[in-house]
Amino acid sequence: MITLVAAIDPNNVIGKAGSTPWHIPDELKLFKAITYGHALIAGHVTYKSIGHGLPGRTLYVLSHSKPTKNQEGVVFCSSTTDALEKTKNERTVFVIGGGSVYDEFMPLAQEMRISHLRTEYSGDVYFPEIDHTIWRIHTKTEYPLFTHIHYVRNEQPSKN
Ligand SMILES: NC(=O)c1ccc[n+]([C@@H]2O[C@H](COP(=O)([O-])OP(=O)(O)OC[C@H]3O[C@@H](n4cnc5c(N)ncnc54)[C@H](OP(=O)(O)O)[C@@H]3O)[C@@H](O)[C@H]2O)c1
Repeated sequence: MITLVAAIDPNNVIGKAGSTPWHIPDELKLFKAITYGHALIAGHVTYKSIGHGLPGRTLYVLSHSKPTKNQEGVVFCSSTTDALEKTKNERTVFVIGGGSVYDEFMPLAQEMRISHLRTEYSGDVYFPEIDHTIWRIHTKTEYPLFTHIHYVRNEQPSKN
């Protein structure tokens, strides 16, 4: 199963100048709790902003270029197909951004775990629009600075 995980502001902002324009410890803790022990897919820009592998998780990084050195817990993938092939035996794969990768994987995802921040930020990368005819709210959890919504797809994802 493919699940998107993101934190987004009220205007769908997710990033600015290659990093995340906020620091919310509760949200980072939640991200770790959701993703720990699983396979993650990230774009190269997101990987560079993290700067390393994530403990307890294998990070599949999409990039058209080859890595210059191997990093523990990180597997480079040359295409979406390559990433899907390399993660095909995983029960759950979490797609952790950024914008271009959410765009590519949203049509393939069955679930989304989205932290909707209450504050607006300026940014230059956005999460794709959530179509509420496709995505229904499974659970909603309130935190001081955000509402975390677990969305489930109403229909089968497309095959491409
Ligand atoms: N708020 C959140 O939850 C959240 C989560 C993650 C990221 N972010 C933010 O999002 C921003 C980054 O997003 P972004 O859209 O600029 O970049 P990105 O999606 O992280 O990475 C884009 C790069 O990934 C590679 N890539 C993407 N699709 C590929 C494919 N199908 N095949 C091969 N390579 C592929 C390419 O790398 P190459 O150029 O190497 O080929 C591409 O330039 C940052 O500001 C980050 O902080 C926010």
